[in-house]
This record gives sequence, structure tokens and C-alpha cells, in this order.
Amino acid sequence: MSRPNPVYCAIDTVDLAEAADLIRRIAGGARPAVGGIKLGLEFFLAHGAPGVRYAFPDPVRLTGIGFFLDLKLHDIPNTVAGAVRAVIDLAPTYVTLHAAGGRAMMRAAVEEAGAQALKRGLPRPQLLGVTVLTSLDGADLHATGIDSPPSDQARRLALLARDSGLDGVICSPHEIAALRRDCGTDFVLMVPGIRPAGSAHGDQKRVMTPRQAIDLGASHLVVGRPIAQAADPRAAAEAIAREAGVNHV
Ligand code: C5P
Repeated sequence: MSRPNPVYCAIDTVDLAEAADLIRRIAGGARPAVGGIKLGLEFFLAHGAPGVRYAFPDPVRLTGIGFFLDLKLHDIPNTVAGAVRAVIDLAPTYVTLHAAGGRAMMRAAVEEAGAQALKRGLPRPQLLGVTVLTSLDGADLHATGIDSPPSDQARRLALLARDSGLDGVICSPHEIAALRRDCGTDFVLMVPGIRPAGSAHGDQKRVMTPRQAIDLGASHLVVGRPIAQAADPRAAAEAIAREAGVNHV
């Protein structure tokens, strides 16, 4: 059985023309090779909403491609709610915020996303929590006053995110099984650190293949360089989607 394409391509560049060209190549046309596009802080701080509209224009979006706006918001509840309101017209499918911002912050974001989407007749963006950045180890957490191991802290924050109304979390491949078990079948697990079998790992240390991550329960896979730096990004994206079990690309 085929599944919706779970592959979100990370567009990690500040070059507007390069981003637009890559998005058109992998997401344009009648048969997109990816399920969605991820634009993050680097791109958004450089180009803002007009840059998103230029690089990822409606004709491409109307093919049903998802839009993951990876802003990793973390501030007082009122400010985070305002940030959610500020991007709602871009109709992101997913927006990220740090679960460490706490219950009130996450709830404020969820309420604002729902209210603003309703007001504008748009689908409500799904909010995803960032738990423990994979760049932090136990010693880094200890230095911030947190004595739990990173995996325990990630689990704690994932459960807090779920209980605060978030739709899912970003997690490393090695957290998928435990979080799927703890947070239930409907919770979104968006997973970076994915490398197709036999490819270069770059600076990613603990990687999994698309097949392994999907089999463990990932809902979506974030893949950047293996697509963006391929000689033929479209063919690379299609191969990754097929590895993840999609047979209509
Ligand atoms: O090029 P690559 O596939 O490694 O890109 C992965 C994307 O996922 C990048 O945008 C990176 O910032 C993001 N990411 C990650 N690891 C995390 C969280 C996010 O690689 N733990």
C-alpha cells in the first residue's frame, strides 16, 4: 500500500534564487517528489514572508505540498502568540516552538493558531515542539541546571508538549520508538538525521535510513543535503521517498 510522501526537504540557504530553483525542481509540476518543504531561521530571517512567497509560490503550494516553518519560537506566551499570528497568512502546515518555553507558552500558541486560522478561513497550523537539541549532551544540560540525561529530558518535554496541546515534536531517529510508544499513534514525529542507505553522513553523527525511521514510527522525515546537494535533486528526493515506502513518485 502506498502512503503520503513523508519527506520534507530542508532548504538551508540564504540564496533566494537557489532556494526558489530547488523548490521548483523538487516540488513543482503535477507529481511533486517531496511531501513538503522546510524553511528555517536562516532563510526566514534573511527574506521574511515576501521571500517565502517568492521561493515557494502558490502554484507550487497548490499541488498540496506541506510547508514546515521551522522558527523554534521561545519567549513569553504573549510574544509567542504574536509570532504565530504574524506568520499565519503564510499558511504553514507546521511551525516549531521550544517545549522548554513551558505549558503557558505552548497553550497560548495553540489558542492563537486556532483563533487566527478560523478568522482567516485557513487550516490551523500544526505546532511542533523542539525538545532537547541534539547538539546538547548531558554535560551541556547539567550546565543549565538540568541533571536528567538528555533522553529523559526529551521524553519529559515531549509529554509536556502533548499535554499542552501541541500536535507533535521534532525528534532524533533514536527517540522515535520511545516517543511513539509514550505519546500515541496520532502524535506527529518529525525526524531529521536521515540518510539514504550508502550515502555521506555530513556532520550528522547518529543517522538512520528512511526505511528504518518509518518502520519505527516516524510520521515525517526531514532531509536536506542528500537532496539539495545531489546532482539531480528531484531524482534523489524520489529515491528517498521510495525508500520510505512511497510508490507513487
Ligand atoms: O542536510 P541535513 O539532512 O542534515 O539537514 C537536516 C535538517 O534538519 C537541517 O535543516 C537541520 O538544521 C535540521 N535538524 C537536524 N537535527 C536536529 C534538528 C534539526 O539536522 N536535531
